[in-house]
Order: sequence, then C-alpha cells, then structure tokens
Amino acid sequence: MSNSLFGLEGKNALVIGGGQGMGESTVMQLANAGANVTVLDLELPRAEAVAARVKALGRKSWAVSANVLDDAALKAVIAKVDADMGGIDAMASIIGMAGWSRLVDMTEEFWDMDQNRNVRYFFIAAREVAKTMLKRKKPGSIVCITSIDGVRSAPYHASYGAAKAGLVSLVKSMSIEWGEAGIRVNAVAPGAIVTPRIPVGDEVRERAMTKGVPMHRRGTTDDIGKAALFFLSAQSSYVTGQTLAVDGGYLAAALLDYEAIINSMQPGGTLGVK
Ligand SMILES: NC(=O)c1ccc[n+]([C@@H]2O[C@H](COP(=O)([O-])OP(=O)(O)OC[C@H]3O[C@@H](n4cnc5c(N)ncnc54)[C@H](O)[C@@H]3O)[C@@H](O)[C@H]2O)c1
Repeated sequence: MSNSLFGLEGKNALVIGGGQGMGESTVMQLANAGANVTVLDLELPRAEAVAARVKALGRKSWAVSANVLDDAALKAVIAKVDADMGGIDAMASIIGMAGWSRLVDMTEEFWDMDQNRNVRYFFIAAREVAKTMLKRKKPGSIVCITSIDGVRSAPYHASYGAAKAGLVSLVKSMSIEWGEAGIRVNAVAPGAIVTPRIPVGDEVRERAMTKGVPMHRRGTTDDIGKAALFFLSAQSSYVTGQTLAVDGGYLAAALLDYEAIINSMQPGGTLGVK
C-alpha cells in the first residue's frame, strides 16, 4: 500500500511502551508508513535500539525514558515530546500487564496495581496528549491496547479484566468529548499473542492458549501493530470509539458444539422436529 494512503508522511507519533513486542511493531508500522516516531520506554536502551531502526528508514526519531506509573514524570515527558516534535499527531499506548490471583485471595493493593498499569496511566497519557492537540488546534488519533479479557471475562486475573474493560468504555467517552476537535480514540483487543514476555511455550501451554481460537494459532506482534496503524492512519478517518478484536476469531467463536448439532439434524431439517 502506498504511504500516501495512510496520511502519515511527516506526521509525528508517540508510542508509549515502544521498546519491544507489540510496541516495537507499532513503531515500525508507523515509520514504514512515513511517520516520525518518539519511542517511550522505561528501558532506555530498548527505546534507543528501536529509534535507531526508525532513523535507518530516513525518519526522525527520539528515544525517551519515563515510568508511566509516575504521574508527574508521565505528564512531563508528554510535554517534552510535544515540544521536541513540534506537536503530536498520533499516540499509541501499549503498556499493560495482568496480575494472576483468585478473587478470594485478591488484595486491594493487587487490584489497584492492575488499574494503575492498565487504565489509570492511559487516562492521564491520553488526556495530556489530547490537551496538546486541542491547544495546537490539530486533529489526531489515539489508540490503546485492551484485551479480549476486557470484553469477555478474566477468571483468575479479574482485576486486569476490569481494567481492560475500563479502556473499552474510556475510548468511547473520549471519542465523544474530543470528536468535534477531530481527535479519534480507539482500542485494539488482542487475543493470545506471542510476545517477548510470553514466548512460544510447551505443547500444554500452547494448547491452553489457542483453545477456542478458530484460527488455531497465537497472534504475532505484527498482527497488533497493523491494527494500531489502521487506527492511527487516514485509513480509519471516520472510525472512533471502537474496540477491534485481533484474536483469530476467539470472541466470535461459539461455545456450543455446532458441528455435532448440524450432524444430528436431518438435511434441511429443524432439530427435534420430525
Ligand atoms: N501478550 C498477550 O497475549 C496479550 C493479550 C492481550 C492484551 N495484551 C496487552 O498487550 C500490551 C502489550 O503487552 P506486552 O506483554 O507485549 O508488553 P511488555 O510487557 O513487553 O511491555 C512493552 C514495553 O513497555 C515497557 N514498560 C513496561 N512497564 C513500563 C512502565 N511502567 N513505564 C514505561 N515503560 C514500561 C517495557 O519495558 C516494554 O519494553 C499490554 O497492554 C497487554 O495487556 C497482551
């Protein structure tokens, strides 16, 4: 696809958590489509390595380090990125993590951690970026990463599911409050993805992670980066407030055994009616 179709040539993008995995893929998708990209990551060497790949494509790139769980640091780094880049046109917020605990054992501190690292920091980051866009009177696009666990259920990691469900609601509210200014806000909901933190494991784990997935495989970080690019580009110019599942069909999958049901029917017949 020609870069001009994305409308990103010379535009400025910020990827929060761009140092590896889905974040790195999102950075490279944006850079390949013509954008200049700031890579924000807690691990500066990771951000620097990805920024070097962007520069090798002939785009401008910056590597910055901040802990998104530190409110003051997050606000300061967004103000600096806005100043250094001369405005932010697109922002992808990738960071998130699940804690695993049975609900009866779950502490308040555990609950709060999952809210902070999945939904609270995104609220602050998106608010700060939207304020820079509004101040500069420039339209823009924001995307965050939720999860199939925020759309369906998240047993044994319920605090994560609740936080990710919060993102699904938040992008809708943001899309309404900022829509008139031309700021679009959407979410990508990955299914089970192979990432640096969750690499391909043994057969038992892989079977567990692909159970109920019609495409019978885990997704790749590029599967997610491409969806993020769609939302950040002109290809989605009239799309806002949406959550797109990138899950190999998992959320569409039916739990009843429909194959057995159709095999039990008369051709053209109705089950149970002779
Ligand atoms: N892996 C999956 O199957 C899956 C499924 C659904 C949703 N997700 C979501 O995908 C997103 C990406 O997950 P991942 O495992 O690829 O990410 P990751 O843990 O690899 O993190 C991405 C980058 O963010 C940086 N980072 C982490 N904490 C930070 C902090 N406090 N401040 C600044 N930088 C920080 C890391 O250094 C890393 O380079 C998350 O939101 C996750 O919830 C993952």
